[in-house]
Amino acid sequence: MLPQLDQIEETALSALQNVKDEESLEKWRVVYLGRSSKLMQVFDSLGQMPKEERPAIGRRANQIRQALEAEMINRGETLRQEALKKSLETERLDVSLPGRPIALGRLHPITRTLREIYKVFADMGFQVYLSRDVETDEMNFQLLNFPLHHPAREMQDSYYIASDEDSENPLLLRTHTSPGQIRAMREFSSQHPDNPPPVRIILPGMCYRYEQISARYEIQFTQVEGLAVGNNITFSDLKGTLSDFARRLFGQQVRARFRASHFPFTEPSAEMDIECFVCAGRGCAVCKRTGWLEILGCGMVHPTVLSNGGYDPNKYVGFAFGIGPERVTMLRYRIDDIRYFWTNDIRFLEQF
Ligand code: PHE
Repeated sequence: MLPQLDQIEETALSALQNVKDEESLEKWRVVYLGRSSKLMQVFDSLGQMPKEERPAIGRRANQIRQALEAEMINRGETLRQEALKKSLETERLDVSLPGRPIALGRLHPITRTLREIYKVFADMGFQVYLSRDVETDEMNFQLLNFPLHHPAREMQDSYYIASDEDSENPLLLRTHTSPGQIRAMREFSSQHPDNPPPVRIILPGMCYRYEQISARYEIQFTQVEGLAVGNNITFSDLKGTLSDFARRLFGQQVRARFRASHFPFTEPSAEMDIECFVCAGRGCAVCKRTGWLEILGCGMVHPTVLSNGGYDPNKYVGFAFGIGPERVTMLRYRIDDIRYFWTNDIRFLEQF
């Protein structure tokens, strides 16, 4: 029996050398130390052995069991160490690499300009009034004194929604923020028809025109409309307010000038230029050698527009203006192509 036991031990130990992972280690345990292993059968058959041989065989079998168990634990530990070493090698970490930058979102350049414009006018007592993007032809044109089929409409080619040939009043995407003037005045005057309150609002928003897209024209762009209506408002109030706006936005030394212009909904009408802040009026590429930069259209609210808004033009006067935030932003940051704003190119947006 004893040589057989030596044989069992030797076979088990040499099989253990071929065990390469935890799974086969468990198989090994079942084969060599499990209930039906040869070693266990020796224990089971001890009773049938000659009495005088039993102690020696029992002792030897126990010895082998302890030895195999100890070797199994050793082997398991070795396997775990090897696996760990391997993973440390393959999943090597270079702690000297620079960290990955955290990508932070930021405000769109137009949003920044809009917020600066809101701040300047908020300080002057103007409130923000939001009007809709989808308008009727009546609001966008007719009530603003653009007659039907008037050529001035061609300056603002429109995107019509569900165009209906017969309809005199189709839906369209607003071509400017001016229809908000009518909506705001109608809302205020409907609450106090006999004595409408004075108005001091700005109306920011997206506008849409059916244009050939180019470096200077986009089919969508923002505007900030302004409207002040009251009892004794004059053209010099308009000039003072807008000149001050230019100084607050572009710097105290900036001068403004007004040129006569034409809009159906204002009379008289003007466009405001600011002195080129790049060359201080001496003439450069940004101002095309003129020394001046155009940034807005404005004028005294046309009496027809006032009465369309429910304000009696015999009692009320007002001024209105429309600022182009894209233009303001292009001038301030020397951006030479308006298409950058709405193409969502991260390389452009990241610079702000
Ligand atoms: N709505 C005009 C435009 O889009 C701008 C404007 C607004 C002019 C208010 C005068 C007064 O061109």
